[in-house]
Amino acid sequence: MSIKKKLISSLLPILMPVLLGGCVSDAASGAPAVLDTEEETADLISIGFSQLGAESDWRSANTQSMLESFTEEYGYSMIYENGQQKQSYQITALRSFIQQEVDYIALAPVTESGWDGVLQEAKDAGIPVILVDRRVDSDKSLYTCWLGSDFELESRKLCEWLDSYVNAKGMSSSDINIIHIQGTMGSTAQIGRSRGLANSAREKGWNILGQMSGDFTQTKGREVTAAYLKRFLDVNVVYCENDNEAIGAIEAIEAAGKTAGPDIDKGDILVLSFDGTAEGAKELAKEGKIAAIAECNPLHGPKVRALIEAIEAGESVEKFNYVDERIFSSLPEVSEVYVEGVLYPVEDVE
Ligand code: AHR
Repeated sequence: MSIKKKLISSLLPILMPVLLGGCVSDAASGAPAVLDTEEETADLISIGFSQLGAESDWRSANTQSMLESFTEEYGYSMIYENGQQKQSYQITALRSFIQQEVDYIALAPVTESGWDGVLQEAKDAGIPVILVDRRVDSDKSLYTCWLGSDFELESRKLCEWLDSYVNAKGMSSSDINIIHIQGTMGSTAQIGRSRGLANSAREKGWNILGQMSGDFTQTKGREVTAAYLKRFLDVNVVYCENDNEAIGAIEAIEAAGKTAGPDIDKGDILVLSFDGTAEGAKELAKEGKIAAIAECNPLHGPKVRALIEAIEAGESVEKFNYVDERIFSSLPEVSEVYVEGVLYPVEDVE
């Protein structure tokens, strides 16, 4: 892999306030974020990173991990683009990276479908594409590798926790009435977490009263939960596909005069979540208002850098690279869960 001789100066100092302030780059106009400074350099590797948005605490942590891992100190220059949850913006960003002849593209795709054309363009230009977090349904020859979570495994761990908890409470599976707040429809995280719940509900005999997308946001999580609580009076579990939805769901539960908590045998509504990244969600889990969280690890930056270092060294890399993840709860009833013969200890919320 040849190393480009030109540097697009590091955007980190510009982007940190953007990240912290929740602003976005100029993906909508089709123009690159900030590409006004070109100067000769000897040996920096250039990477275009198309992040899908800034919808959640997890996403902010993921963006920060990537930006911190590809600095000049490590030998990289990174061009970062925020796709604002729009695939069209992400495709525009990828085309701009191709035009600038970056050495690598890192893509965190908002949804799985619709990437064939632009990935073919990157391949034709000889630019390796590394998928981060979510996957695409394109032919595997169109990207170099993927790094992220096993979203269905996360779900199976959480569902095994629920099953053990229901048993520990002496309740019957048929008493469990779930509302399911999904993530962004068509995203790998939503597909895996929804499939995990659907299969477990069928196996265990739980009732799913309704399912709707909360788009991985607190606002939508609150709105969808509020609507369902009006429609169904016997809800006792809310399965949220991320921390931010869970925080919103608890706001809706409390606004409806109900209690989010562990005592589902006594009328509480038990809230389940994924990520374990948002400080607010961790606090709620310590209080027992979120009963359990399947971790989704956002710290992809150093691992993506290791993949690129291996490629630069001429080594072959695995096509699919999974990050390690845990399960958290502050409730004492369930200390471990088994999925496919593997034991996962249930850890205290950090
Ligand atoms: O794709 C990972 C998911 O996307 C995280 O669980 C969620 O918080 C984020 O928005």
